[in-house]
Amino acid sequence: MQNFKFSVPTELIFGREPEAAFKEQLKKRNVKNVLFHYGGGSIKKNGVYDMVSEALKDLGINSFELSGVQPNPRVTLVREGIELCRKNNVDFILAIGGGSVIDSAKGIAAGIAYDGDVWDLYIGKSQMSDLKGPLTPIGTVLTIPAAGSESSPSSVVSNDEGLMKRDIGSELLIPVFSILNPEYTFTLPAYQVACGCSDIMAHMFERYFTKEKHVDVTDRLLEANIRSMLHFSKLAQDFQTDYDIKAEVMWAGTIAHNDMLSTGRVGDWASHQIEHELSAIYDIYHGEGLSIVFPAWMRYCWKEDPARFLQFFRRVFDVDYAGDQALHAINEGITRLENYYTSLGLPIRLSQVKIGEDRLREMADKCVMHRGDAIGNFKHLTADDIYNIYKLAL
Ligand code: NZQ
Ligand code: ZN
Repeated sequence: MQNFKFSVPTELIFGREPEAAFKEQLKKRNVKNVLFHYGGGSIKKNGVYDMVSEALKDLGINSFELSGVQPNPRVTLVREGIELCRKNNVDFILAIGGGSVIDSAKGIAAGIAYDGDVWDLYIGKSQMSDLKGPLTPIGTVLTIPAAGSESSPSSVVSNDEGLMKRDIGSELLIPVFSILNPEYTFTLPAYQVACGCSDIMAHMFERYFTKEKHVDVTDRLLEANIRSMLHFSKLAQDFQTDYDIKAEVMWAGTIAHNDMLSTGRVGDWASHQIEHELSAIYDIYHGEGLSIVFPAWMRYCWKEDPARFLQFFRRVFDVDYAGDQALHAINEGITRLENYYTSLGLPIRLSQVKIGEDRLREMADKCVMHRGDAIGNFKHLTADDIYNIYKLAL
């Protein structure tokens, strides 16, 4: 196990009737001018917009609205947000929605503090470590359990120029508070529930596949959470307004991606980068991209450490195997994972989202760009490896 430093600076306020706690968070920070950032309008249909607006009115806080964040948030709107915040002396950013809104808000916070085009930070032309904190603080009201951005240090943003999707990571970007009310997720369409569950699972798979030895405690925490998600994902689709089920998934989403489950180990993260090329070019949902990429990544990479894969499939998917039947057991495990995705209506092959062979090479090359010609910590993958993984996913 490696040395580590771990803290979750985000105040997580979980549960029903969060109005008073939400107001308290803004009041104690003496917020004057807020950027009220949100997406395509779902928050106007489920009461979240009204809750936030009324709180801001009661507290006498000036609110500057910026809506229209798309799934796979675009840097163009981030740039707009930076200008709006600078012009109006915004001292707090409220991200009301899912991972896309929160990531866009993080991009805005970073951009305000950067003397140049914010995209430079995403492509590594400038470093987050060059920014002097504290940045404009961010608070979130989460409406979809998925990305884990409500307490993560990352922001993932797309640029239509060059069709790229890139991330930045810094402790400076971690939200100061997040409101997690499972009731706010009742209006999620079933397919979004599935995409969210797929992302939550992927965050745990990425962490599970490590080369680090002697990390049994975090292995078992991961296995328990993954098993819980296997149980609750379909239920969350079928019982849209069941508070207790939604609460389990919402909490799993946060736990999966605040770094408690990474303590003492280094995760892989290649599948995320391979997926981001898909959502950059084809604008598919991150969760549906992951349900396609992960089985292919597993098929390609299991030989790197068969014992770890066998442990995973035995403990999580109850795959029984005899000593000389590793390949059979791995195949069986991957099939069970695919069956889980399929049961939620998610795709497991590129053809199911109408992606063909034509741009696979381009995506593989772009995936290693700015990244030292290889990705992945469990197995280092070159552009050729990534191309082979895309082909396995066809
Ligand atoms: O835009 P609105 O109208 O709000 O609709 C959204 C959007 O269409 C809808 N939605 C959200 N809450 C709803 C709802 N519809 C009805 N009722 C509700 N309660 O859901 C759609 C998807 O929203 P989005 O924010 O895009 O989803 P998600 O949270 O999955 O975020 C995906 C983004 O996060 C990035 C992904 O790459 C992707 O761009 N990620 C961010 C990470 C991070 N910052 O740590 C890590 C992840 O691995 C991921 O890469
Ligand atoms: Zn993810």
